Amino acid sequence: MWKKIFGGGSSNSERTEKAPAGANPLYDRINWQRLPRHVAVIMDGNGRWAQGKGLIRTAGHKAGVKTLKDVLKTAIDLRIEALTVYAFSTENWKRPRPEVEFLMKLFSEYLLKELEEMNDYNVRIRFIGRMEGMPEGLQRQMREAEALMKDNTGIRFNVAANYGGQDELIRAAQSLARQAAEGKIAPEDIDAEAIEQELDTAGDPPVDLVIRTSGDQRLSNFLLWQSAYAEFYFTDVNWPDFTPACFVDAMVDFAGRDRRFGGLTNK
Ligand code: FPP
Repeated sequence: MWKKIFGGGSSNSERTEKAPAGANPLYDRINWQRLPRHVAVIMDGNGRWAQGKGLIRTAGHKAGVKTLKDVLKTAIDLRIEALTVYAFSTENWKRPRPEVEFLMKLFSEYLLKELEEMNDYNVRIRFIGRMEGMPEGLQRQMREAEALMKDNTGIRFNVAANYGGQDELIRAAQSLARQAAEGKIAPEDIDAEAIEQELDTAGDPPVDLVIRTSGDQRLSNFLLWQSAYAEFYFTDVNWPDFTPACFVDAMVDFAGRDRRFGGLTNK
């Protein structure tokens, strides 16, 4: 079981300049001043991991849940402000029905089993995407989980379910168009901030780092707006094999990036 190195419950405004005393030696390589505020993860390769071991694909998803728990806890240790993970895309409905049903059951079990511990760790969970497209029982669990943790001040943990970046932007555009048609705002009021407030991730910092496991190098309709200036980290490791040490590798790599945001320096 995971060790509560920092006691878990503290708020992210308490981010440290250097490693807190007694920190896990795994974090010795961390540059505490150059950590991303918001990390997004495309958890790819569950199927390939399972097939490589002669198992059925769903065994890979099951193993992926354990990895997700470990990565969330590592992100909490590192005082990452927001972690957004791609659990199910608007395109994933094309998968065989038994696999889709398995995934829905897995999400539901995950919530049942992990809710309390996440709450103890001051996690604030939020589901992003078209929640209304998910099975009704699961929707209820998702809403209850969000309500339970809504006032928590620790890591913002966004789980993308029935999520598509284009779909999110369409919903934002429709909402703003409605407000304009009702005379609540003028078209000129629609700026970057107005759009951000309509996104499912409203209130979160922009994505600094996108991690994608399992070798493919694409964004797959994930957080299109939020990742405008994100750094990308690709690894061949399949998601179930992505350990906390792999997450630390990504942090170390990120710390070495020269981020210029379109300018000439990173200032
Ligand atoms: C991609 O691997 C993974 C998914 C579509 C599902 C991700 C789900 C989990 C990691 C389960 C845990 C999530 C929660 C929120 C409890 P793939 O099936 O596309 O793998 P492949 O590319 O090798 O086929």
